[in-house]
Amino acid sequence: MSAALLSVVAEADWLGLAGRTIVVTGAASGIGAAVAEGAARAGARVALLDRDAAGAERLAAALAARGHRALALQCDISDEAGVLAAAARVEAELGPADGLVNNAGLLRAGALGEVSLADWNAVLGVNLTGYLLCSRSFGAQMTARGRGSIVNVASIAGCHPQTRSGAYSASKAGVLLLSRQMAAEWGPAGVRSNAICPGMIRTALSEKFYEQPGLEQRRAAITASRRIGRPDDIAEVALFLLSDRAGYVNGAELMVDGGMSAMLMDLVPRPGFNDSAERAPAAA
Ligand SMILES: NC(=O)c1ccc[n+]([C@@H]2O[C@H](COP(=O)([O-])OP(=O)(O)OC[C@H]3O[C@@H](n4cnc5c(N)ncnc54)[C@H](O)[C@@H]3O)[C@@H](O)[C@H]2O)c1
Repeated sequence: MSAALLSVVAEADWLGLAGRTIVVTGAASGIGAAVAEGAARAGARVALLDRDAAGAERLAAALAARGHRALALQCDISDEAGVLAAAARVEAELGPADGLVNNAGLLRAGALGEVSLADWNAVLGVNLTGYLLCSRSFGAQMTARGRGSIVNVASIAGCHPQTRSGAYSASKAGVLLLSRQMAAEWGPAGVRSNAICPGMIRTALSEKFYEQPGLEQRRAAITASRRIGRPDDIAEVALFLLSDRAGYVNGAELMVDGGMSAMLMDLVPRPGFNDSAERAPAAA
């Protein structure tokens, strides 16, 4: 093989994920589906965990039809026995996990004074405890071989309180600390753990908001990059963190919000500075 061809081949596997086993939770929809697609395109064997069995099967079939290796598994990540069983199946059918993307999550509305204990506990059970259960089941496969990467999808809401959203912000803040604790505990065994804080990404989770006319433009107007995020915007970052390209990134938190969290001072009315038409929402 010529040097030029060799470099093209090396470039095609820039991430080095080919042949690796990547587990994605919440893979049937939105960000998780985009991560699973991206990992498969990068040559990884992908395990698609979701409580939505039909959705996971649909994506696995679509990936298989394009020649990728994909395994769909129905799994409620808040159920320890179910997670352990899924981990055993992945190891038996795809080999031990090289990477895990903790992504399955849910949002239940409710002001702090009114949110039901059942809703509070359900959100923590999936968004926080579910991340721990998956991390230690699949993480054990990684520490056993002395290498692996865990990517935790948290949220901008884990850094800034999202009001009237019950336990959502608290669960995501918990994920950020859990991610750093895993980095500290498992880093010596060769396993990295990092978190991504997505800003506003258009998926099934947020789709009903966009039914309101003009909402997308209003949200874009308070985002530095002046657009709403797409699932792929998060998937690209997750793939980088999964890969050896991020081999010395451990315990980090990456804000992927189009610069929205940098806008605080811009939102403060300052006559003469930010009262131009620049931030006015575009016509719907
Ligand atoms: N969309 C956004 O704007 C946004 C912003 C910040 C963070 N996030 C986070 O990104 C992650 C993915 O969200 P999304 O927007 O793609 O949502 P989504 O609703 O499109 O997908 C979530 C997936 O998780 C699955 N799921 C939910 N509970 C589960 C459980 N107990 N066990 C297994 N699977 C379960 C659902 O079936 C669904 O397929 C979540 O953790 C969410 O909190 C999303």
